[in-house]
Amino acid sequence: RPRVLSGIQPTADSFHLGNYLGALREWVTMQEQYECFYSVVDLHAITVEQDPEQLRERTRLSAAQLLALGIDPDRSALFVQSHVPEHAQLSWVLECLTGFGEAGRMTQFKDKSARQEADHVSVGLFTYPVLQAADILLYQADAVPVGEDQRQHLELTRNLAQRFNSRYGKSFTVPEAHIPKDTAKIYDLQDPGAKMSKSVPSGVIELMEDPKRSAKKIRSAVTDTEREIRYDVENKPGISNLLAIYSALTGKSIAELETAFEGRGYGDLKKELGEVVVEFVTPFQQQVRGYLDDPAQLDKILHRGAEKAREVSAATLRDVFDKVGFVVPR
Ligand code: TYM
Repeated sequence: RPRVLSGIQPTADSFHLGNYLGALREWVTMQEQYECFYSVVDLHAITVEQDPEQLRERTRLSAAQLLALGIDPDRSALFVQSHVPEHAQLSWVLECLTGFGEAGRMTQFKDKSARQEADHVSVGLFTYPVLQAADILLYQADAVPVGEDQRQHLELTRNLAQRFNSRYGKSFTVPEAHIPKDTAKIYDLQDPGAKMSKSVPSGVIELMEDPKRSAKKIRSAVTDTEREIRYDVENKPGISNLLAIYSALTGKSIAELETAFEGRGYGDLKKELGEVVVEFVTPFQQQVRGYLDDPAQLDKILHRGAEKAREVSAATLRDVFDKVGFVVPR
């Protein structure tokens, strides 16, 4: 079976609707056809300062959310990145193959570092995408389900795979980004020109927040001064975002929704979407609590996932170390 790898950072108390619709929903369905490796990427998380206890808690909380969304630990390897030492090890080798300028062109790095003083920007934040490439290449992944914002990191990963293969002989599968068509970028409800992210809490639907709060945020979503409910990203980004979310959560097409809401007001759309979201998150939150109530079981699942992951990652790393000319330790 072809392979999938993807990862998510444990840097918030909850995943948000952008994470789910842009990536995690695909993680779940791809289990049908792929051999999947899914990681909570704690090494990536510490590229910016984290509170240690909070990081530990959020790592378990992330795993619990992934299980509740339908990641099946019997079919897929669900693991914590720091449990698999090969990630950091391969990352070093790939860093030595990455140009300084090449890494400097990553727009996520440019955006994130522009917001901080130079001495507060860690070298880890700079090499972040190379570690991401290592995550992917260790598992010989064919496909990587991610949102639009990860496209450039996937392009770097492909370049590094090809560079290594042509210098040392075929070692890595060159992966494809798997980016959903209609939900590749979910926008902030308060600022429909920006992607939904943890930085503007008012416009973000968090899967773990009180569903009443989510419904309220949807009711106060920024729209436009027209009255027509029509999908038009250019002129009606707010309404289009709400329609995209509605469509993705219910399986109804955008066209169907436009017809259903013909002649009705924005308030109706917002109220109904609020109900759809409440219906989705209520059972989800219950399941997350179930997993968190049994931390020993959760840790066992993660231990098993790391073992599965290491079987594959260790073999790739052995091959890489051999190819670059390291002496095999005996
Ligand atoms: P992270 O943790 O920021 O986000 C996890 C996933 O959610 C997607 N996403 C979105 N999709 C649509 N609309 C949005 N508003 C939105 N916000 C976030 C992201 O594209 C991502 O797929 N660098 C990665 C983590 C990572 C990784 C990897 C991913 C580390 N190693 C290997 C794939 C393969 C990140 O920061 O994702």
